Amino acid sequence: MGQAINPTRRYKEKIMKGIMLAGGAGSRLYPTTKVYSKQLTIIYDKPLIYYPLSLLMLAGIKDILIISNEETIPLYQKLFSDGSDIGMSISYALQSAPNGIAEAFIIGEDFIGSDSVSLVLGDNIFYGKFSFLYEAVNNHTKGGTIFAYRVTDPERYGIVEFDKEGKAISIEEKPLKPKSKYAVPGLYMYDNQVIDISKNLKPSKRGELEITDVNRVYLERNELNVQIIGRGVAWLDTGTPEALLQASNFFGVIEERQGLKVACIEEIAYKKGFITKEEFEKLIATIPTSYYKTYLEQVLEED
Ligand code: DAU
Repeated sequence: MGQAINPTRRYKEKIMKGIMLAGGAGSRLYPTTKVYSKQLTIIYDKPLIYYPLSLLMLAGIKDILIISNEETIPLYQKLFSDGSDIGMSISYALQSAPNGIAEAFIIGEDFIGSDSVSLVLGDNIFYGKFSFLYEAVNNHTKGGTIFAYRVTDPERYGIVEFDKEGKAISIEEKPLKPKSKYAVPGLYMYDNQVIDISKNLKPSKRGELEITDVNRVYLERNELNVQIIGRGVAWLDTGTPEALLQASNFFGVIEERQGLKVACIEEIAYKKGFITKEEFEKLIATIPTSYYKTYLEQVLEED
C-alpha cells in the first residue's frame, strides 16, 4: 500500500480520478538524473511534468495522485503543494522501487476507491488537437481505453496489432519483431477492475508489473477500446538527450510564434474555471518576477 502523504480532498462533481506515475530510475539520462528525476528536466521553459499534468487538467480531472520515490516526492510537493492554488486536489504516494507501471493501481487503490481512473506517465508529452482525449473521457464507461500512435521505432514501446477491420487483436511490450507500427502512449483510462487486474499480475521477465499485461487482460475480456491518434497530435519522446532537446525546440518555436504558453498550469486552471479571477490574481501575486509571471499577467489583462 502506498503511503498517502496529503489527504485527498473530495469534489462534489464526480469525474475520473487521475494518477500520474513519476518515479523510476531515469538512468538512461545519467548524469542529469543523478541529482533529480527525469520528470523535472526542463522542456523549454518549465519542468517536463507540467506537460502531462496539464493533459489531465484539460481532460477535466482535478483529483490527482502523484506516485514517485522518496527523494522526488518532496520536490513535487514543492512544485504543486496540495494543488489548491490551481483549484485541484493533488496528493502523493510512495513507490518504494520501480516495480512496474501497473503497480500504480495497487498503490493507488484507496485513492481510486470505486471510481474509474486515468493514468498518465510523468514523462509523456502530447501536443495538438485534444479531441481524442475529450471524447475518450466523455465516452469512457466500462473497460479500458488506450491509444495507438504510429512511430518509426516500434520495438521501444508497447505495440498494438489491428485486424483488417481495425479491431485490436494483440498487444506486446517492446517486441523484437513488432506486428505493427502502432505504439501505446503513456495515457490509459480504466474502470475499477484495473485494481484487481493489477493485483493478479505476475512480474514480467524484466521484473515489472507491466501495463501491457493489464491491457492484454482487458483485450481478452473484449473490453479494450483502442483509439488511434492521428497526424494532428504530437506525442513526443523524452527518452534520450536528443529527444529532450527536440521537445524543447518544438515548444520554443510554438510559444515564441504565438505568444501563448503550452502546459501553463495556472492559465489552464483559470481558463477551465478551476479557480476564479480573484484566485488567479492572488496566485499571480505569489509568483516571483519572471517571464512566466508577465505572461500570466497578460492572460489576466487580455481576458
Ligand atoms: O511511454 C510509453 C511506454 O511506456 C509504453 O509504450 C510501454 O508500453 C510502457 O511499458 C512504458 O514503456 P517504458 O519501458 O519506456 O517505460 P519506463 O520504464 O521508461 O517508465 C515510464 C515512466 O514511468 C518513467 O518516467 C518512469 C516511470 N516509472 C516506471 C516504472 C516501471 C515509475 O515511476 N515507476 C515504475 O515502476
